[in-house]
Amino acid sequence: MLFQIKSISLAPAGSRLIDWAWQRMPVLRFLEKDFLKRKPLKNYKIGACLHVTSETANLTRVLKAAGAQIFLCASNPLSTKNEIAAALVKYFKIPVFAFFNEDKKNYFNFIHQVLSFQPNLLIDDGGDLIISAIKKKMKNILAASEETTTGVTRIKNLEKEKKLIFPVIAVNEAKTKYLFDNRYGTGQSTVDGLLRATNILLAGKRITICGYGMCGKGLAQRFKGMGAEVIISEVNPIKALEAKMDGFEVLNLNQAAKISDIFLTVTGNISVIRKEHFLKMKDGVILANAGHFNVEIDLDNLERISKIKRKIRDFVEEYTLRNNKKIYLLAEGRLLNLVAAEGHPAEVMDMSFTGQALAQEYLVKNYKNLEKKVYHLPEELDNRIAEMKLKSLGIKIDRLTKKQKEYLLSY
Ligand code: NAI
Repeated sequence: MLFQIKSISLAPAGSRLIDWAWQRMPVLRFLEKDFLKRKPLKNYKIGACLHVTSETANLTRVLKAAGAQIFLCASNPLSTKNEIAAALVKYFKIPVFAFFNEDKKNYFNFIHQVLSFQPNLLIDDGGDLIISAIKKKMKNILAASEETTTGVTRIKNLEKEKKLIFPVIAVNEAKTKYLFDNRYGTGQSTVDGLLRATNILLAGKRITICGYGMCGKGLAQRFKGMGAEVIISEVNPIKALEAKMDGFEVLNLNQAAKISDIFLTVTGNISVIRKEHFLKMKDGVILANAGHFNVEIDLDNLERISKIKRKIRDFVEEYTLRNNKKIYLLAEGRLLNLVAAEGHPAEVMDMSFTGQALAQEYLVKNYKNLEKKVYHLPEELDNRIAEMKLKSLGIKIDRLTKKQKEYLLSY
């Protein structure tokens, strides 16, 4: 089902939001001008599976300026902003297969619809589009780029098993992506999601963050800034030590379960918060996830040990356990920052999506020389994105002198 059949009347509102984000994406605006002149993606069809947000709309605008035809579906059933989908269809003439709260069957049907247009290139967020194309053994696909940590992990696992059938650029591994998007983007927007969903006071609350990777670091910094007492749980000894020296309390989840008010998972792993932890929690705790899939909180077991479940407000469900304690689950355990809030701010997606657009151009130029492997975005492109962002912010930095360059090369 193409989105336009549903609610095209939302399009003007969506268009205003897309423009609002566009004003905050100066690097993409620069790239659009450049692409309009050069048309580096002319005659290419791109299948994209991304969160349908105003920032994604602006990426499609730039890819279109490069001459590509784009077909879009959602990378999460709950992250689609319907007004954005409507505006993309009405004003950008981009076929969008997504609507807010689509079920799992529709989610995969829409991925297959995008693939039915026989794209030559893919842009994915999470790996479902790329993996579906590989399962279908689609020969027309020349290459792909992947946006997020979980997607990159899945694609690298396929690479290890020699099951990749085209090269993939892991955009997530670019410094201009994970150091900013994962950290500052997820950090801020997860605070935003928690507040919009609950309207609770954060000052003085104990928050356990499971996972001190790039996203976890961002969450920890931002929640600390709001006055919360942050606890970190980790499985990696180096990350745990890093969290301790960054000034956070580090506990295992069994210890944290007994004392925290809020639990947030952001690990990219499965069943991080489990039955044994639910049973130890205080009455009235809040659970949420900001990792890619809704597998980090063991929802099956939460259901199993509960006697009543009811909706309290948008994105808040109350589970009454058999021991009469209550647990509040936000956003059905899906990405809190995209479901209850609007995802990353445009300023940060400006860099991530410039990385995507440049990755697509690089792939078109180089796919013939690439193996069926996972590649990084070339360092010179990564640096170029940072330079363009600095320029847009009016920031000048120093340059190495000849003498300094020689010194650094000497021994
Ligand atoms: P990362 O690999 O940098 O960090 C994950 C951390 O979780 C690692 O330090 C790992 O040791 C830890 N971990 C794994 N299993 C654990 C367990 N059972 N208990 C405690 N810690 C555990 O990954 P990154 O970039 O922080 O991404 C995390 C997740 O967030 C991924 O699913 C990624 O796709 C997703 N993501 C979500 C975004 C959003 O907008 N909500 C944005 C970017 C990424």
